[in-house]
Amino acid sequence: MQFSRFLQLFFFWSHLHAVSAFDQYLLRKCNTAGFCKRNRQYAENIQRNNTHPSYYVIDESSIRYDGNENSFHANVIKNIPSGIKLELPFKLQFLQDGNVVRFSIDEIRSYKDYLPKVLNQRRYNETSKWAFADSPSAVPITERKKVENKIVIGSNSSDSRIELFLDSFLINVYWKNQLSMVVNERSLLNYEHLRSKDENFKNLLPEESDFDMFHDSFNYSRSDTMPFGPESVSLDFTFNEFENLYGLPEHPASFRIEETIGGEPYRLFAADVPRYDVGTRMPTYGNIPFVIGNNEKSAAGLFWVNAADTWIDFKYPGGKAQSHWMSETGIIDVVMFLADTPMEITDKYTNLTGRPTLPKEAAIGHHQSRWNYYNESDVMNVDSNMEKGEFPYDIIWLDLDYTDEKKFFTWKPDAFPNPARLLKRLGDLGRGLVVLIDPHLKKDYYYSNTVVKNDVAIKNRTGQTFFGTCWPGVSVWIDTFSELGGKVWGNFYRNFVNGTKNLGIWNDMDEPSVFDGIETTAPKNSIHAGGFEHRAVHNVYSLTVHQATYNGLANIFNGTTRPFVLTRSHFAGSQRTAGTWTGDNVASWNYLQISIPMVLSSNVAGMSFTGADIAGFLDNPEDELIIRWYQAGLWYPFFRAHAQNETRRREPFLFKDPMRSYVRNAIQLRYHLLPTFYTAFFKSNLNGSPIMKPMIFEKPKHTNFAAVDDQFYVGDSGILVKPIVKKNTSFTQIQVADGVYYDFHNLKPQKIASKNGTSDIKYIGIAAGLDKIPILLEGGHIITKRESYRKSSVFYRNDPYTLVVAPDAFGNACGDLYADDGETWAHKSGQYLYSVFSFQDFRCLMGNTANVPSNHEAAGNTLIDKIVIAIGNNNASIGDTVKINSGDQQYTVNVDKSSPYEAIITHPMVYANETWQIYF
Ligand SMILES: *[C@@H]1O[C@H](CO)[C@@H](O)[C@H](O)[C@H]1NC(C)=O
Ligand SMILES: *[C@@H]1O[C@H](CO)[C@@H](O)[C@H](O)[C@H]1NC(C)=O
Ligand SMILES: *[C@@H]1O[C@H](CO)[C@@H](O)[C@H](O)[C@H]1NC(C)=O
Ligand SMILES: *[C@@H]1O[C@H](CO)[C@@H](O)[C@H](O)[C@H]1NC(C)=O
Ligand SMILES: *[C@@H]1O[C@H](CO)[C@@H](O)[C@H](O)[C@H]1NC(C)=O
Ligand SMILES: *[C@@H]1O[C@H](CO)[C@@H](O)[C@H](O)[C@H]1NC(C)=O
Ligand SMILES: *[C@@H]1O[C@H](CO)[C@@H](O)[C@H](O)[C@H]1NC(C)=O
Repeated sequence: MQFSRFLQLFFFWSHLHAVSAFDQYLLRKCNTAGFCKRNRQYAENIQRNNTHPSYYVIDESSIRYDGNENSFHANVIKNIPSGIKLELPFKLQFLQDGNVVRFSIDEIRSYKDYLPKVLNQRRYNETSKWAFADSPSAVPITERKKVENKIVIGSNSSDSRIELFLDSFLINVYWKNQLSMVVNERSLLNYEHLRSKDENFKNLLPEESDFDMFHDSFNYSRSDTMPFGPESVSLDFTFNEFENLYGLPEHPASFRIEETIGGEPYRLFAADVPRYDVGTRMPTYGNIPFVIGNNEKSAAGLFWVNAADTWIDFKYPGGKAQSHWMSETGIIDVVMFLADTPMEITDKYTNLTGRPTLPKEAAIGHHQSRWNYYNESDVMNVDSNMEKGEFPYDIIWLDLDYTDEKKFFTWKPDAFPNPARLLKRLGDLGRGLVVLIDPHLKKDYYYSNTVVKNDVAIKNRTGQTFFGTCWPGVSVWIDTFSELGGKVWGNFYRNFVNGTKNLGIWNDMDEPSVFDGIETTAPKNSIHAGGFEHRAVHNVYSLTVHQATYNGLANIFNGTTRPFVLTRSHFAGSQRTAGTWTGDNVASWNYLQISIPMVLSSNVAGMSFTGADIAGFLDNPEDELIIRWYQAGLWYPFFRAHAQNETRRREPFLFKDPMRSYVRNAIQLRYHLLPTFYTAFFKSNLNGSPIMKPMIFEKPKHTNFAAVDDQFYVGDSGILVKPIVKKNTSFTQIQVADGVYYDFHNLKPQKIASKNGTSDIKYIGIAAGLDKIPILLEGGHIITKRESYRKSSVFYRNDPYTLVVAPDAFGNACGDLYADDGETWAHKSGQYLYSVFSFQDFRCLMGNTANVPSNHEAAGNTLIDKIVIAIGNNNASIGDTVKINSGDQQYTVNVDKSSPYEAIITHPMVYANETWQIYF
């Protein structure tokens, strides 16, 4: 949902501008953010004169190794020309297989009695506690020696090694003996240590600016008291030999990270930004400070573990990528990942921050939402019309106005008099419901009073309950940073959900959005559990909220169903417990176009369960845009149609043919491919792999794909899609690597590579009229689908599978299938099916099981009732019959070869949970 407080204050002004863009004046630019401007200026001055000795050195006498926690320690000394010296404790460890390097630089602050007593004087160092899945254990440091002016440290178990220079703070990071990353190569390390305003002049470096160190001159934030004065941290990282960086969601920008020189840096600052500006680096709802570098030989990743307001500059000076990270406060805590491919980087990153949750199967179906379905009969009408029109969907959504006067955990009594009845009616039809619950609670009712009574509200700077304005008017905000806050919040769901398994929760406005707050959020000097300023924790706030929601629901459901939680704001680690979406987008073509790179960026940063509102939340889409948006949106891992309350109704049953059937076909295609999607979700849960997968993740050595972000693969399936995102398009070209590709719709070969040579076709042209989604199936893959229409995912469980075999130039292909009960946690104790199919040399197709559930019901119907083989690329001939071995049975089945491109075996009588062979 959207709001900007100035819509009310400056209605006329906003009205003029609201149709086109976000009201940018509400948000700072780098030069109105004190620490961003200061650090950019410092960077400029330092680089202008790099002849003088570094202000930061390592104190050799402080070096020590801790064998218990496998860590290297030393003090970084900051030398200020006035004679002041500061000791900044530095710690370094090797994690996982030793190819993950983590270091931190903290500041020991001596107690100052001029600081408000309600504040913790320590720098906030607990972002990792929220972002990481567990506290990671380090592997032993086995190599350590001093060579000239540097310390060389390595871990036996790994291909990585670092060199730490003593007379400047500089770290070379080697991977397989190649210099992969350099820390502080440009000497941009800047640690703004604690000092009083009076002594500030003694504490400045000559290259530093003192702009806005003790007050904030941005238009709306003069009330920020900034008790600690300047406390930013900043550091530069060079990705050596990497000319392409990715990740850093969420920005309405290209997938490949752009240079920021002469423009705004990328900003990470959770903000409520309806109509965010497409093609900019402005902050949005989600914030994941993680980037990946890729080249032909290897990959590298960087995770800046800091939840404060953060800006990042990027530059590609030729042959490498330079990045400059600036955070308003917190400590420097950095994790670097080294591997051969970007997929391995994402794997290592999600090993640390947690794997994306495996949603219940219903949650990966189609979601029908609107702000707002007015009442129970409105909901049931939409439901029955969806069914009549054969538009499958799993979950219907209620936005803000289902509540009683916007008081969360209540229902509007006349509209939803009996929620249990509604949920039962939906449940009986195989559907679910998701309702909105925000972290702000209207002042003076049971839930807000409980928060205040338990002392778990966000506090204002004097340590009293913080009151701000949001939907219900004056509100308090839950503070889920304390254990008690998390429990109180989680328990609120107990009497709201009552164990109703088909009820999911949508945590919105959790940046948090505060209508009368600076940049529409909580004041930076408001206070959280432990006495930490909001300034230090802002970007991770939403994670603490939706994680508490998830934990509450998980307790209530106790394994009987997987909780479904959608969150708008998110941080590194959010993937463990929630899905997300790209927030309040607009029904126009540029938002459709940008949704693809946005979802790709989230997918490489672990946040794979993501989508964009179809067909744009704000404004009324034209018919052609609606059609194209469904055709693109069916590929989003999170597939939801949603619309703002001021738009016209646009449920798909309202459309006229042929538009109606185009949209129906798109939604039904998602359901036909649910087994493929669910398998992709399973793998994402296993190793973090993207579900909407960028070209560069599938073909990491093909750097000609480096900037391609308008086409993508679906997991490992070999399905390659290029949705149409431009008006009046009837033809497109898909960029491909060497190989064999078939048109997904009829298996007609589109590009043929011979066994010993590669063709030089780089693009495949495809007709793309309004009725057609450009989709290829790459040779070498076998996909699983279901072909009937059913009204929701649960009814597909009884349907048999179809296998589609797309041979490569050698006549080989393979694929896999994951299935479980789609609902409970029984898969965690082995109740799931995982099968692998392989096709060899046009001679044999085999099914092998890697895991079979002991509970026969757990995987649904496993019958494979049809097998389709793409034959258009094949010189070998397929006979009229095939021989099948299944269990102890052997039999012969006919092959239908009436199509020029497909050989079809119907009723082969083989099962996905058994081992079998088919000989051609
Ligand atoms: C560069 O820094 C050195 C040492 O601080 C100083 O002596 C010199 O004047 C500086 N040069 C310029 C051009 O600022
Ligand atoms: C993370 O990696 C470590 C070591 O490589 C391994 O022991 C651990 O099981 C992994 N954890 C997850 C969640 O994959
Ligand atoms: C944060 O710093 C405190 C005090 O130095 C230390 O006890 C604690 O372990 C640190 N926490 C983390 C997560 O590093
Ligand atoms: C759960 O029970 C409470 C108390 O009886 C009721 O107010 C609420 O509506 C119920 N919720 C659902 C989803 O049935
Ligand atoms: C802090 O909140 C209390 C109410 O909880 C209010 O009376 C007081 O004025 C607020 N102080 C500041 C500085 O905002
Ligand atoms: C939760 O589920 C477990 C395993 O099914 C069961 O043993 C336990 O009693 C359940 N706990 C509650 C509170 O229902
Ligand atoms: C949309 O919802 C907001 C918040 O409840 C309300 O102020 C506005 O009047 C609604 N608009 C319409 C057209 O219902």
